[in-house]
Amino acid sequence: MSTLVADWSEDQKAAFGRAPVVFKHGMAETGLFEDKALARLLDDYPSELYDINLFDFDAEGRSTMRTGTRGRLPGCEVLEGVKAGRVWVQLRRVEAWYPQLGELIGEAFGELCAQAPGFRPVQLNGQLILSAPGAKVPFHADAPGVALFHLRGRKRIWIYPNDEAHMPQRGMENIALKQQTEDLPYRRSMDEAAQVFDLEPGLAVTWPLHAPHRIENLGTFNLSLSVDFQTWGSRLTNGAHYANGILRRWGVPIAPMHRTPMAVRAGLWAASLALKRLPLVPDRIAGIERSFELKGVKA
Ligand SMILES: [Fe+2]
Repeated sequence: MSTLVADWSEDQKAAFGRAPVVFKHGMAETGLFEDKALARLLDDYPSELYDINLFDFDAEGRSTMRTGTRGRLPGCEVLEGVKAGRVWVQLRRVEAWYPQLGELIGEAFGELCAQAPGFRPVQLNGQLILSAPGAKVPFHADAPGVALFHLRGRKRIWIYPNDEAHMPQRGMENIALKQQTEDLPYRRSMDEAAQVFDLEPGLAVTWPLHAPHRIENLGTFNLSLSVDFQTWGSRLTNGAHYANGILRRWGVPIAPMHRTPMAVRAGLWAASLALKRLPLVPDRIAGIERSFELKGVKA
């Protein structure tokens, strides 16, 4: 009997891994996500695991991102800054650094494994995301699988097919090679192919590996727990993208990933482990500068 994740229907089970799945969860009722608990967490959280981002959008919905630091603000003022601005705060590795939440994540994924056919994650990473009423997360894709547990406020998510038209394979290779942050070329017309969901507290969503998505908050302060997971399938696929990215730079023709069998992906993944030890491609993301200090950013 599940306690954190509501039982899945046959339709949800059949869709898992092929299409987005929305499901109910009970994390929001644990008391871990009220203002006081959040302010205390923000006070104590290690600064190297604490990201503050501000996005500016053009008319086509394309974004530029500025990355900042919390400065010397106490947690309660960071929280007020988020509620007032366009900022987006992310606490990384909460599965390890927020032990009570780490336990909940373990429990929830235990229940998910019992529901989702063949689901066997080998690694979990949790991010707690606090975002402003007007915040948007631009169109992007994540290398690992993701389950997004919504906890406070309302947000809308657009999830797109992970085909070549929406998620070019080269883009995934660049993400694997850390040549770009996960933002991708986006046009409004792509929305026609998206599935759109409004998330309320107590709803969670997961989608097929590498499906691009974007998010808009619906006028309220938002709190979500995003859990990245790797399975052996996602690990081999990401390793294969890494190796393909290098091979493509060497002029080797690359097969489409959806026609690359898992055994071949495993070979490419093994090659990627060796390639990662060679300093072939400098990591461009580590060089992104932090360009503002949070002092109560207003919309
Ligand atoms: Fe994402």
